[in-house]
Amino acid sequence: MPSNSFKTEIFYQIYPASFKDSNNDGFGDIQGIISKLPYLKKLGVTFIWISPIYKSPMFDNGYDISDYQAVNKRYGSLADLKELFTQAHELGLKIMMDLVVNHTSSQHPWFQAALRDKTSKYRNYYIFRCGTNGNPPNNWRSNFGAGSAWEPVTGEDDTYYLHVFSKEQPDLNWENPELREEIYSMINWWIDFGVDGFRVDAITFLKKDQDFASISPDGNDGLAKIKRKSENRPGLEIFLRELKERCLSRVISVGETSGLRYNQFAEFVGQDGFFSMAFDFHYVDIDVESGSEWYRQTSWTPQQLGASIAKSQTTLQEVAGGWNANFLENHDQPRSLSKFIKDEAYQNEIGAKALALLYFGLRGCPFIYQGQELGLKNFKRTEITDFNDISSFDNYRRAQEEGFTPAEALNFVNKRSRDNGRVPFQWNNTTNFGFNAGHEPYIKLNNTCPSTTASEELANSNSVFNFYRKLIELRKNSPYQTDLVYGDFQLLTDVDTNVIAYQRGKKLAIYINFSNKPVEAQLPIAKVILNNYPELDNTDQNTILQPYQAILVERSL
Ligand code: NOJ
Repeated sequence: MPSNSFKTEIFYQIYPASFKDSNNDGFGDIQGIISKLPYLKKLGVTFIWISPIYKSPMFDNGYDISDYQAVNKRYGSLADLKELFTQAHELGLKIMMDLVVNHTSSQHPWFQAALRDKTSKYRNYYIFRCGTNGNPPNNWRSNFGAGSAWEPVTGEDDTYYLHVFSKEQPDLNWENPELREEIYSMINWWIDFGVDGFRVDAITFLKKDQDFASISPDGNDGLAKIKRKSENRPGLEIFLRELKERCLSRVISVGETSGLRYNQFAEFVGQDGFFSMAFDFHYVDIDVESGSEWYRQTSWTPQQLGASIAKSQTTLQEVAGGWNANFLENHDQPRSLSKFIKDEAYQNEIGAKALALLYFGLRGCPFIYQGQELGLKNFKRTEITDFNDISSFDNYRRAQEEGFTPAEALNFVNKRSRDNGRVPFQWNNTTNFGFNAGHEPYIKLNNTCPSTTASEELANSNSVFNFYRKLIELRKNSPYQTDLVYGDFQLLTDVDTNVIAYQRGKKLAIYINFSNKPVEAQLPIAKVILNNYPELDNTDQNTILQPYQAILVERSL
């Protein structure tokens, strides 16, 4: 891996279609991002991760790539991208691109050539199989909507191709060394272009069990989850080691490692790991029943959330060189304020700041998802046609196939839809919240709940935005930097069960009352460094934490 210096980086994720539309065509674009670099600089982040901006038919908003070395015209050109890199680098900001190499778009020339000619070498770039007795080759399910992961090939008898996501995203055949070589030269081309890092998409899906055998169905439809046979399968490590050796060791990398078990973290992100760090989904998905359907929501307690975070933190710190990529939101997740703050009365700046402190205080690099710094919430839609996301439509359909009413299905989708975080960014109170000059955005604006805007947040010294700025400043440039960045994590359990508390290094501690009732505690506080309330009710004997009060303190012990 490149040097350890990445440990002080603070990441900000941009979902380009929804960030800033400079040419008023309804889609965000690269020039829009360039125009907002000063905003990001002001916030204080140091590394920008941009979700895919490559050529794509946009079935999955760019995670379906039809040309790895071209920019989607909606977003601009390679020249625009070069300009973005130059300007960002001049401001001291680094750029991380999304790397989607588990699959391409079905419109990629490789896949088109594979469809046109069975004897083409590109046939072996993908996974084609014969069906069994008029059915797909096996009962694996796709990740979107949970239908079959196999799509019949039009015009060919009894032939199917594998897609673990949508049918517009055929999986690449990583068993083929020629395909791997093409991928490596493409990645190295981007590194030479000036990319500082990659967020590596769906990376635990690269390896498929080569027996392609059916597995016991886990639903009443005879279909079995794809995950068991193509997520995190033995042999994956061989591809990842090669990927690192050939390309990723040149840059900073973050693996999207869904399904990774804790005993694998050393291999993935330890001293000689495949990635600089990895996203751990265990606590972020605490509201979804593990291993179950996407719509089965679970209840959870603050104690369980604290324990889950602690498990993630301590696992990584026990691994030599282990480092977390800490996040609560991304373009696939609902807004954290709506998910983690159960009492709607506190789904406001108090709750948003409590969540900010909860994860910014952790050991690892923090990732902010666009709009999180404004304290945005989910946006409830009343019609399925108001959604844009392919998986929301699939899930809506699937829920009804499983017997739920349209209203129930809409309710599930509203809670978990990836569109919650994809609404156009709210810059100011002008037309379309300053996203563009008035063209209808490709996805509905959050006009039922125009909570706050960036310009209001910038102007208010007490805003969520300014709270994030303070947190960033503490990690970048303060006497607490060493403890906050490198200090060991330790869960503190001598507090009320509604309080999530942990220590960092020798003297820092974070206490968060994760309930809507005041909680009493005896806390060894020498100094309050950060507080999401104007005051702390604290005496030598007793501290009262108000509902969702969150403090960062220097401990007196
Ligand atoms: C994970 C990405 O985060 C998600 O947005 C995408 O749909 C899938 N991988 C498929 O690329």
